[in-house]
Amino acid sequence: MENVSVAAAEGADFAENTMAQVSTISHTTATVSRDVRTTVGEIAAENPRMICRGVNVYYNEKHAIKDVSVDLGRNEVLAMIGPSGCGKSTFLRCLNRMNDTIDGCRVTGSITIDGENIYDKSMDVVPLRAQVGMVFQKPNPFPKSIFDNVAYGPRIHGLVENKDELEHLVEHSLRKAGLWEEVKDRLAQPGTGLSGGQQQRLCIARTIAVSPEVILMDEPCSALDPIATAKVEELIDELRENYTIAIVTHSMQQAARVSQRTAYFHLGDLIEVGSTEQIFNTPRHQLTEDYITGRFG
Ligand SMILES: Nc1ncnc2c1ncn2[C@@H]1O[C@H](COP(=O)(O)OP(=O)(O)OP(=O)(O)O)[C@@H](O)[C@H]1O
Ligand SMILES: [Mg+2]
Repeated sequence: MENVSVAAAEGADFAENTMAQVSTISHTTATVSRDVRTTVGEIAAENPRMICRGVNVYYNEKHAIKDVSVDLGRNEVLAMIGPSGCGKSTFLRCLNRMNDTIDGCRVTGSITIDGENIYDKSMDVVPLRAQVGMVFQKPNPFPKSIFDNVAYGPRIHGLVENKDELEHLVEHSLRKAGLWEEVKDRLAQPGTGLSGGQQQRLCIARTIAVSPEVILMDEPCSALDPIATAKVEELIDELRENYTIAIVTHSMQQAARVSQRTAYFHLGDLIEVGSTEQIFNTPRHQLTEDYITGRFG
């Protein structure tokens, strides 16, 4: 826990410095002009878990994601930022085929996890969505007890053989989500009775319980107060040890605090991707600079 606090503190320092520097970025740092639409920066991760190449998404006629290629690295948090409507949630949903549930939505290109194409006809989306779990903007516990919220996934995926194993897994998942101490005496009470921040950590515990490899988070803190946000951010940093994480956020401070790489989207294009430090301190594309300095979006 100490390491996490140190990491969080360092992250906060970096975020603070970053924000101070953002306001003083000179025009000379951005060298690629607005009309260049190929992704600037390093799309490849050193040790990729997921590889996306030439991904396009259409909602009927609307072209919402345009030829996006990027890797998600192991033990790494990738932050996705950009103005409202630029396609962050759409792209995130491609990563576990959540877009399949939207009428008129079509995805092309290739997305692999550990070398396997998730859009392959033979891919079963039920285990895929356990392998690539998702945490939503608004905490959405099931109308069940705290215990059953976490036990639900392991039960339907047949991950445990008996009651003991299940209890063990529920405790383990709640501990990993940093919630165990707060709920261990009220496991039979409804999950919806927890505070917003606790509910979000319960949803994270529920995701972790089915042993995912990747966790997708779409603005997971936007409904939380600063204290609950800090807890979830600390947790994200801790989870990075075992999982690959992609997080959509509107908060540049949050992106700076929790991520190692950042991807900037604009009108369906992936404009720039690189180390978070580089993106915030020396953006290479004019559009990235405009966004992080608050001139746009
Ligand atoms: N179900 C849908 N049907 C049709 N168009 C959609 C649908 N969902 C999103 N879009 C469109 O696709 C584009 C990208 O939307 P998306 O929700 O991915 O953006 P976003 O970057 O997540 O925005 P925000 O920051 O506001 O959440 C937008 O123009 C949006 O209107
Ligand atoms: Mg969104």
